[in-house]
Amino acid sequence: MNNRAIIATLFVLFVVYSVNVYTAGTAAPHIEPMSDDSRKGQQLFQAHNCIACHQFYGLGGYMGPDLTNTISKHGSAYARAFITSGTRSMPNFDLAKEEIDALVAYLEFVDKTGRYPAENYDVKWYGAVSQADDPQ
Ligand code: HEC
Repeated sequence: MNNRAIIATLFVLFVVYSVNVYTAGTAAPHIEPMSDDSRKGQQLFQAHNCIACHQFYGLGGYMGPDLTNTISKHGSAYARAFITSGTRSMPNFDLAKEEIDALVAYLEFVDKTGRYPAENYDVKWYGAVSQADDPQ
C-alpha cells in the first residue's frame, strides 16, 4: 500500500468512528417536566438554603448528605421525617405541611434525573460510556 491509500483508509475509519461516537453516545435521557408542586419545592429549597449543607450531584455544602438519590435509597417518608423534625445537626425549619409536601416532591423529581455517585458503567466497544443503571 502506498502512503495515500493508508491515509485514505485512516481518514475513512476516523469518519466512521466519529459518526458512531457523536450519534450513539449523545441521546438525552427523558426527564418528566417538573410539577407545580416540585417547582414550589425548588423555590423553598433555595429560600431555606438547603444547599448550604447538602449537595445535588456532589455540588453544595458538605455538612449533610448528598440528596440526589435520597428518595430511591430511603423513600419519601424518610426524607419527610428529616424535613419535618430536623435532627441534632439539621435545623427544624418549622414548615407547613404543604411546604413539606412540595420539598418532598422536589426531591422526588431530582431523584429521577439520574444517579449520583455514578456507578455500573457500560463501556461500549468504541469507547463511549453510559450508565448501566440509568433510570430512563
Ligand atoms: C445546617 C445544615 C443543614 C441545612 C441548612 C439543611 N440540612 Fe438537611 N441535613 C443536615 C444534616 C447534618 C443531615 C444528616 C442528619 C443526621 O443524620 O442526623 C441532614 C439530613 C437531611 C435529609 C436526610 C438525607 C439522607 O439521605 O439521610 C434530608 C432529606 C434533608 N436533610 C433535607 C433538607 C432540606 C429539604 C433542607 C432545606 C429545607 C435541609 N435539609 C437543610 C444538615 C442540614
